[in-house]
Amino acid sequence: MIDPIAAWHTEHVYFNQLLGLLRKQIDVFHGGERPNYELMLDIVGYLRDYSDGFHHPREDAAFARLAKRCPDLELILARLSQEHRVIAHAGEALREQLQAILGGAIIPRAAVEVAAATYLVYYGNHIAKEEEDVLTRAAKELTKEDWEAVRAAVPAGRDPLFDADREERYRELRRQIALEA
Ligand SMILES: [Fe+2]
Ligand SMILES: [Fe+2]
Repeated sequence: MIDPIAAWHTEHVYFNQLLGLLRKQIDVFHGGERPNYELMLDIVGYLRDYSDGFHHPREDAAFARLAKRCPDLELILARLSQEHRVIAHAGEALREQLQAILGGAIIPRAAVEVAAATYLVYYGNHIAKEEEDVLTRAAKELTKEDWEAVRAAVPAGRDPLFDADREERYRELRRQIALEA
């Protein structure tokens, strides 16, 4: 069986890489140039589909189990689950803005810049908090049965960006990630 904590941490590393790429595009705004909106949409689209669709629901299931075993973490875990809803909402709003821009709509640059920068900071802090406060405790407290329940809580989904069976639509995004490495 794959070590669930290692797999969890690896996904955070990938997500941070994507947020780093998003950061670079937001930096382009400062130079008054056109950011790569297609790439931004790929990043946010991937995070909406994979992270909001699989990673966060799995975490919510793990958090519920962990909260029962560690009452001192209950409030932190409740906040992190709430942040999943905020991230999904903010990500969808940003995705819609980017789709509108690519569809030819006139949207003030500042609106996109603010939405993207807010998403980036919020998401980065969220991941950092999970890494600091949750993963070590989960490794210690959650049992094999807990992890089985976590896996069963969400249908198995393959990661369209990082799994071996990769989707063509993320080719450019993978190229950009490789350039960063
Ligand atoms: Fe999370
Ligand atoms: Fe996470």
